[in-house]
Amino acid sequence: MDSLIINGGKKLIGDIPISGSKNACLPMMIASLMTDEKVTLKNVPLLSDVKTLISILESIGTNAVYINKNLSLHTKEIINHRASYDLVKKMRASFWVLAPLLAKSGYAEVSLPGGCAIGTRPINLYLKILKEMNINYTINNGYVVAKREGPIKGINFKLEKKSVGCTHFFLMLASLANGTSKLSNASCEPEVIHLGSLLIKMGAKIKGLGSKKIIIEGVEKLNSITEIIPSDRIETGTFAIAVSATGGKIKLENTNYEENKLLFNILEKTGSIINKSKNSISIEKTHNRINPANIKTSAYPGFPTDLQAQIMALMTISNGKSEIKENIFENRFMHVQELVRMGANIKLDKDRAIIKGVKQLNGADVMATDLRASASLIIAGLVAKGITKISRIYHLDRGFYNLDNKLNNCGASIKRISE
Ligand code: EPZ
Repeated sequence: MDSLIINGGKKLIGDIPISGSKNACLPMMIASLMTDEKVTLKNVPLLSDVKTLISILESIGTNAVYINKNLSLHTKEIINHRASYDLVKKMRASFWVLAPLLAKSGYAEVSLPGGCAIGTRPINLYLKILKEMNINYTINNGYVVAKREGPIKGINFKLEKKSVGCTHFFLMLASLANGTSKLSNASCEPEVIHLGSLLIKMGAKIKGLGSKKIIIEGVEKLNSITEIIPSDRIETGTFAIAVSATGGKIKLENTNYEENKLLFNILEKTGSIINKSKNSISIEKTHNRINPANIKTSAYPGFPTDLQAQIMALMTISNGKSEIKENIFENRFMHVQELVRMGANIKLDKDRAIIKGVKQLNGADVMATDLRASASLIIAGLVAKGITKISRIYHLDRGFYNLDNKLNNCGASIKRISE
């Protein structure tokens, strides 16, 4: 298993190319099952989650070829309707293949995704969508076995809570349904817009992407497409928070300001200087005073839960008291105890973390518990005095492409070791 050894105290200065978005890429790859023609995706980050999903698509019958960030996916015929537990358990979002399998072939056996470090990750809302669409399913031996008799019928459905995955799931099922569907309380995350735009370019008829009400008029079939994966807003936010903690100046290239507007406003209030230009954003921190901030995670355009662990690392060295409320996942504070090992002063009270800034974090041996927690510990290690060793770094490689080298190219001192 790999670990990272970080020698803290270095400022970050330099340019960082932002990679393609993991959370846009995964649903867009799954949407390739919606057509028997070729789908080519460009700027695909070769993350372990992407590799896991390629394996699942190949097991279903997709011919996948990845060359120099371009991924071509061609599923001439669905030869296997089963997405197995050993792959789905590695990457929960693979559960979403249930939608195109049902839309295209009418039958699917997909492993229940199971929970993960940040929560139980239930699928009750997905099952409600199937039921409303008259798609029969049973749950046997840890698998959802679903079969539809006849075409999927268009429905009006209101999500009882915001769910990005359920919005993706509904968009794919409804795109090939018989009739018109309306989804209320839909998620507005940029990734929903990216998936919906891909489907539209493939021939789907979708209106209202980015709003809470999406209308989909079902069509007969979807067609071949070539599309570019947009930049990763969570990677962008992670680097912006990192330089706000270490001091220095970085320029994030090929990325998008709008998708992280709220974060940049917060970082400016903590004392960073943010300048945007057409395709890049520069973040500068010229002094070591960090003002505290109170954060509440929520669905887009609120503060993203996927940046909660990272902003907490920044708040551990602010010159005041901050409060972070996690409203999306029930167990997304696994990084807290690891930060406390480094000298952070954090108290947990159910879904709230109260952080009292300290002058200095100290290097320590810590353990990554999940994807975004790994980034939080790296930010803490970058500012800590001395050496920090972060184990179980496979979590990081699920969702951040080459993050350690990108930071080293800006003056950080991070070594990856295999043990
Ligand atoms: C997506 O997960 C992202 N993953 C997550 O990013 C992100 O944190 C989350 O959306 C934000 O909402 C991908 O895009 C691959 P949800 P998803 O359905 O779709 C509850 C990362 O670090 N819920 O929006 O699985 C659920 O438990 C990952 O990149 C139900 O109760 O999340 C959660 O509390 C982590 N029943 C809330 O909804 C259901 O049937 C929002 O989850 C479905 C969800």
